[in-house]
Amino acid sequence: MKPISFGLLVAFLAITPLHFASSKTLPSTRPTKCHEQERSALLEFKQSFFHPMIFICVFQANELKLESWTLEDEDCCYWEGVECDEGTGYVTSLDLFNSCLLGSIDSNTSLFRLTHLRSLNLAYNYFKNSEIPSTIGDLVELTSLNLYDSDFGGQIPSQLLNLTNLSSLNLSWNDGLELTNLDMDTMVQRLTKLEHLDLSRLNVLAPFLEAIANLSSLTSLVLEDCNLQGTIPTAIFELPRLQLLNLCCNSELSGNLPEFPLHSPIKSLSLSKTNFSGPLPTSLGNLTFLNKFDISSSNLSGNIPSSIGKLTQLTMLSFRSNKLSGEIPSSIRKLVQLSSLDLSMNQLSGEIPVEITCLTQLTYLDLSFNKLIGPIPEDISNLENLTSLYLQSNNLNGTLRLDVVLRLKHLTTLLLSFNEFSYIIEPDMNTSLPNLSALGLASNNLSKLPMFTCNRSRLQWLDLSQNSIYGPTPLWYLNVSMEDLYFLNLSRNLITSFPAFKWPNLVILDLTYNDIQGFLPSPPKDISIYLVSNNKLSGEISPEMCELSNIDILDLSKNKLTGVIPPCLSNLSETLSVLSLHGNDLYGRFPQWQNDFCQVEMIDVSDNQLQGSLPRGLANCRGLEFLNFGNNQIVDTFPSWMGLLFDLKVLILRSNRFHGAIGETEVGDQFLKLRIVDLSMNNFSSRIPYEYFNIYSAMKVHDSDDEYYYGYSQRTYYTSLLHEEKDTRDEYWVIYHYPMTIINKGIAMEYEKILEYLNVIDLSSNNFIGEIPNSVGSLTELRLLNISNNNLTGPIPSSLANLIQLESLDLSSNKLSGMIPPALTHLIFLAFFNVSDNHLSGPIPQANQFTTFENNSYGGNFGLCGGPLTKKCGNPIETPLAPPSSAFAEEDSGTWFKELDWKIVLIGFGGGLVIGMVMGLTTTSRIERWFLRFYRGRRGRRMHQIRFA
Ligand SMILES: *[C@@H]1O[C@H](CO)[C@@H](O)[C@H](O)[C@H]1NC(C)=O
Ligand SMILES: *[C@@H]1O[C@H](CO)[C@@H](O)[C@H](O)[C@H]1NC(C)=O
Ligand SMILES: *[C@@H]1O[C@H](CO)[C@@H](O)[C@H](O)[C@H]1NC(C)=O
Ligand SMILES: *[C@@H]1O[C@H](CO)[C@@H](O)[C@H](O)[C@H]1NC(C)=O
Ligand SMILES: *[C@@H]1O[C@H](CO)[C@@H](O)[C@H](O)[C@H]1NC(C)=O
Repeated sequence: MKPISFGLLVAFLAITPLHFASSKTLPSTRPTKCHEQERSALLEFKQSFFHPMIFICVFQANELKLESWTLEDEDCCYWEGVECDEGTGYVTSLDLFNSCLLGSIDSNTSLFRLTHLRSLNLAYNYFKNSEIPSTIGDLVELTSLNLYDSDFGGQIPSQLLNLTNLSSLNLSWNDGLELTNLDMDTMVQRLTKLEHLDLSRLNVLAPFLEAIANLSSLTSLVLEDCNLQGTIPTAIFELPRLQLLNLCCNSELSGNLPEFPLHSPIKSLSLSKTNFSGPLPTSLGNLTFLNKFDISSSNLSGNIPSSIGKLTQLTMLSFRSNKLSGEIPSSIRKLVQLSSLDLSMNQLSGEIPVEITCLTQLTYLDLSFNKLIGPIPEDISNLENLTSLYLQSNNLNGTLRLDVVLRLKHLTTLLLSFNEFSYIIEPDMNTSLPNLSALGLASNNLSKLPMFTCNRSRLQWLDLSQNSIYGPTPLWYLNVSMEDLYFLNLSRNLITSFPAFKWPNLVILDLTYNDIQGFLPSPPKDISIYLVSNNKLSGEISPEMCELSNIDILDLSKNKLTGVIPPCLSNLSETLSVLSLHGNDLYGRFPQWQNDFCQVEMIDVSDNQLQGSLPRGLANCRGLEFLNFGNNQIVDTFPSWMGLLFDLKVLILRSNRFHGAIGETEVGDQFLKLRIVDLSMNNFSSRIPYEYFNIYSAMKVHDSDDEYYYGYSQRTYYTSLLHEEKDTRDEYWVIYHYPMTIINKGIAMEYEKILEYLNVIDLSSNNFIGEIPNSVGSLTELRLLNISNNNLTGPIPSSLANLIQLESLDLSSNKLSGMIPPALTHLIFLAFFNVSDNHLSGPIPQANQFTTFENNSYGGNFGLCGGPLTKKCGNPIETPLAPPSSAFAEEDSGTWFKELDWKIVLIGFGGGLVIGMVMGLTTTSRIERWFLRFYRGRRGRRMHQIRFA
């Protein structure tokens, strides 16, 4: 059965009219009926392949043309999808697009007996990864062959090249099909009549493009996502009849845009998501027939040439996500047919040219993420058909005339967040906004809630975060009927109260970082993301919270909540992914969490006064990644049972009353993904369990691509922002970071987000005895190691020198003896080193990082000598020379902290929710990969998709 896949839906959207057969013209009076042997071949084909009850068919439920093919009906020329030659009666055309065909096709399939076929369309059926039968070569009269998305696989048979009459060939979207064996030169010699060629999604080779450039009849060439590599041959652009060229989504295809000849016939040019670089040539203006130009997500630089004004036929233009700079040319005013203009994510500067308001056909205008300054031109209200206006993340300043902008009655989306407006003129209260569904005014110096938003609005998505909205939430606001509101972000304001909710459809609410006092407001029952951390809420957590049957992220951290966590909260474990109650005054036991089914990935209840033992029910939460019970009063032994939680990466039990030995591991594969273990400030009293060091395999493997932050993200979109001409919709990511406190370099530091490659072991302040196991040296990716304040004896193992990423090593306050291994000077990232208060002796190593540590790293060891201590080594032992000091040692160490800061700047803000806009559905776009690099897309449950579907 064909699964309804994402790809399939995309494919469905991507079908161009080309793929739909032109409406069937009934044959006029014909002397001959259809031939009996062809009739039986068709019936046999129907018999073997027609399955109207398969799921995909039921789902589409519209193409059942083969039902008209019956034994009783003698003249097959009248059957749906069939056309015959009027003179001879032979079947010449078979259009079986989306006809519920399922099964393995082979050379004996009766279809290939229809040797007079000129047109064959089997697109959008399901042939179970069959090879294209070699008997296809018998259909020598074929001029059109369409096998689009019909699950063919294997090699393309060389017999295909016998079809020398082909003018249209579409083999696209058959993921199993390969184009590796065909002799391209032969192909170019034989298929000389080819006009339309679509090989999207096939794996083809780069030299192929050189050959294609010889197919001089081509009028359309579509090679989306073909894994094309190397440099594009300029000759492709010079094909004398080419009107449509689509090389989208070949991220390793590079090249410059060529000089375009005058009156080039190209009408549609898509080079998006390739690696095209260099400038836009002035000769772009020679493409006078161009009506669609998409070179988004590539690598272009330089200015937008003013010759662009010559492209007067353009209806769609996208330069999104390149490196274009300079001003937007005023010649743009001549593009009067333009309905969609996207220049976002470049480095464009200057003001928004007033000429843009001449483009009255515009429905979609995106200039976001540039460096534009000045005001929004008032004449923007000329663009009366505009539905989407994106100007966020620029440096626009002066007065924001919302009263003017909102005269655009068709607007559904208006995003103005992250600009520098100093004053806002709101529309008056009588303005109706019948279509506006998304409004972003984050970081725009607002000091009060905008009144107009409550005026009969149909708003679904409202972002007012990072403003200076202060004081109690006015009651009128809470009473306004925003029936459709499902996303509200008021975080990082100065709001002091938020008494109740009146918005029945609210699904995401972010109130973090305000001054909200009073009891915890009970959100609507269907809420999915509810964030109120960093406020001043007090009182108990009401059991009403247990009725949030769709809750996904619940963050009540850093308030003054008290009392017992309602035990019924564990009822939420089927939907809940993230639970943070950190930093309150909660006491009593953590709920038993007895549900068999548990979705939870993150629990943070640190910094409370919880008692009792760790709830064993957590063993059911097989996806648990992050568990923080730090700073409570839990009395328990080491939870070796958590070794069965295969995804566990962070385990923080700091400062509780854990005690006893850390038992031996039972099953081999435990704690494989653990990266942060903090058992400090407890009463563990065994030897350091060296077996565990052999297990923590995530701490051994260097994965440089693994630069994710700990967090949970959900990918979603608003359907209301569909813009049909682009067949895309706005997606956005809702990202929630896991904050953490880490004792680093002796200081407790609070981080709003942490990169996943930070590997930490903190066993300090317990009663561990015995020696430091040698095996700790196998955890080569460890960044912080703290075993201070225990009762450890024996030497410092020189295997510690293998921990080449180590930035902080604290062994202080033990009973360690012997020398400081000179090999530790290999640790070139070591920024903090403390071995004070031990029984160490001998000379202190004197190279690399060791030249930077001071007295307090060594104090309380009577046998140590040499700098920085004043005690000279009486009988100097030759300190072995450290290896040549690496260039890295020159740099300030502590790499991950630095990098972290840099990324915070890059993202712009941290904590609470981060909203990332991502355009389009295809998954290869660079901006999306950029996001993915930082935020792993977890199992998004696509709640809104369900809601708005
Ligand atoms: C068809 O193609 C095969 C293999 O390429 C070739 O051997 C054969 O001669 C061709 N037949 C015709 C009729 O062109
Ligand atoms: C294309 O345009 C450029 C600049 O507009 C012009 O100089 C050039 O002659 C044109 N090329 C051809 C082949 O016509
Ligand atoms: C807006 O769209 C309508 C319908 O397509 C069209 O008739 C009208 O001319 C457009 N408005 C402007 C200002 O172009
Ligand atoms: C807007 O910013 C630009 C560049 O910083 C500045 O020159 C201009 O005076 C500002 N305009 C207003 C109205 O603040
Ligand atoms: C340290 O360990 C020794 C045995 O190795 C033991 O005798 C001593 O009591 C321990 N000290 C503490 C403070 O636990």
